[in-house]
Amino acid sequence: MTFRTLDDADLSGKRALVRVDLNVPMADGQVSDDTRLRAVVPTIAKLAKEGAKVVLLAHFDRPKGKVVPEMSLKPIAPALAEVLGAPVAFAADCVGEVAASAIATMKPGDVLLLENVRFHPGEEKNDPDFAKALAANGDLYVNDAFSAAHRAHASTEGIARMLPAYAGEQMRRELEMLEAALGKPKRPVLGIVGGSKVSTKLDLLNNLVKKLDRLAIGGGMANTFLAAQGVDVGASLCEHDLADTAREIMASAKAAGCELLLPIDVVVAQEVKPGVAANVRDLADIQGADRILDAGPKTLAKLIAAIDGSATLIWNGPLGVFEVPPFDKATVEAALHAAERAKAGKLVAVAGGGDTVAALNVAGVADDFTFVSTAGGAFLEWMEGKELPGVAALAI
Ligand code: 3PG
Repeated sequence: MTFRTLDDADLSGKRALVRVDLNVPMADGQVSDDTRLRAVVPTIAKLAKEGAKVVLLAHFDRPKGKVVPEMSLKPIAPALAEVLGAPVAFAADCVGEVAASAIATMKPGDVLLLENVRFHPGEEKNDPDFAKALAANGDLYVNDAFSAAHRAHASTEGIARMLPAYAGEQMRRELEMLEAALGKPKRPVLGIVGGSKVSTKLDLLNNLVKKLDRLAIGGGMANTFLAAQGVDVGASLCEHDLADTAREIMASAKAAGCELLLPIDVVVAQEVKPGVAANVRDLADIQGADRILDAGPKTLAKLIAAIDGSATLIWNGPLGVFEVPPFDKATVEAALHAAERAKAGKLVAVAGGGDTVAALNVAGVADDFTFVSTAGGAFLEWMEGKELPGVAALAI
């Protein structure tokens, strides 16, 4: 897919409407993880340096078309200013007179954040009149919010069809890295997919088995596959009703030549509590009261060998209950190993999805991966092979 980038734009003196994703976690009124703020700095800095008036469009949470004061973007402006190292002004509406008069006072290089676009019902409905009202405040549109690109909303899709539209620096990097991981990857390609439920990742698994050379399945979802092969998983989380589906996925993997790596041993405990007594079990030895909470050492060794034998890794979802030690072991060790290979230039290691980033942060390796996507839902939809409306609207 071809799209315009900021290198193609004449920015000086222009009002650039920039869609960013500022949907950041907050605790006690403060931003508790500024990853997404840092991600949009290169685009904002480049636009400001080249003399554009930088007008930021963003959503926060899900106010469902109404003004919900607790979901205001106002507290984000100073947090963004801090990571940007420059002032960020704020306007209390994203359309109409309030926005227009704030923009009219801007000088080239200034940055202004407009209030939550989702305070208007037209945003999520992708209402053309609302998109037009947004577009009225800009000379050009930049989308730097890959993580919101799975939404066909006015500020992510509709507006891109009304103004000259460009991919921002973060959007460009996301698209390039995802292409390197799944579009035209260096082979062999290994996928690691974890998380609790198969039911939330069916489309993803079906798409991946067609594209990968090997796919390791971990987390609670692996239990469903083990049970489908006749393993007694005891009291573990398991979607027994999806046994047929799991067998179908195994069959399509086989037909597509994708080797599935399922656990060959597991770590069990009777409850999920930090420091609880945990045992390693071979699959045949799992007891009725056992809950599988992590992959075992033999499985981990096999996974590490698979990482060593791969040129590209794409990772979504933890291998165990990584929030509760010691059940973070397989996730952390595999992540450390992948990070080492990536640092040595031997592996293109790409990861994404909410829990995955948190898990890599537990391992302290997020910065050592080749690329960690800022996206949650958008990353999953992309891994499912779906077209993302916010990306499609940038195509030229
Ligand atoms: C996200 O946090 O994944 C994006 O900002 C999208 O948010 P949404 O799921 O509320 O559309």
